[in-house]
Amino acid sequence: MFGKKTAVIYFSRSGVTRSLVEKFPLEEGDRTIELIPSDPYPKSYFKTLARAKVEIEGNADVGLENGKQDLGLYNRILIGFPIWFWTCPKIIKSFLTENDLRGMTIYPFCTSGGIDITEAVDEIKRNADGATVKKGMRFRKYSEEALKKWLEQ
Ligand SMILES: Cc1cc2nc3c(=O)[nH]c(=O)nc-3n(C[C@H](O)[C@H](O)[C@H](O)COP(=O)(O)O)c2cc1C
Repeated sequence: MFGKKTAVIYFSRSGVTRSLVEKFPLEEGDRTIELIPSDPYPKSYFKTLARAKVEIEGNADVGLENGKQDLGLYNRILIGFPIWFWTCPKIIKSFLTENDLRGMTIYPFCTSGGIDITEAVDEIKRNADGATVKKGMRFRKYSEEALKKWLEQ
């Protein structure tokens, strides 16, 4: 993307983050990976809220179908997710701890109902040993110009 090999890793329960990623201008050599929980989240928003609350408050390990990835080829790793309870879903921590991200550059991004990405970036920094974690970006709507500017930081 924009001339650098980019892996876009994301989790999306209800499709908002997925639709955002689908708009990113990927180029040959880039890759997107949707993180799939071993135990899928319920369709019901309220049941999902209840489960996510327990996971976040208990700092739970959420199982991943496709946790381990070969990311050595990429110049930058974008990690996207919905904000859940002011932070990132625990599946993001599982991804970070299952992979060796030392020396890599991570760009966190999110969608949300209104909350910004600050707390989620702190959580990512705590779990991405040896990686450089850049400034996060909350997308209200897709803008190629905003995406490009954020990636140039
Ligand atoms: C379990 C859960 C917790 C959420 N917590 C927040 C929150 O704390 N702040 C916020 O602004 N939005 C919150 N939301 C809204 C989502 O961040 C928002 O709808 C997001 O765009 C959904 O993305 P997705 O469709 O890719 O899953 C929450 C949604 C769910 C399901």
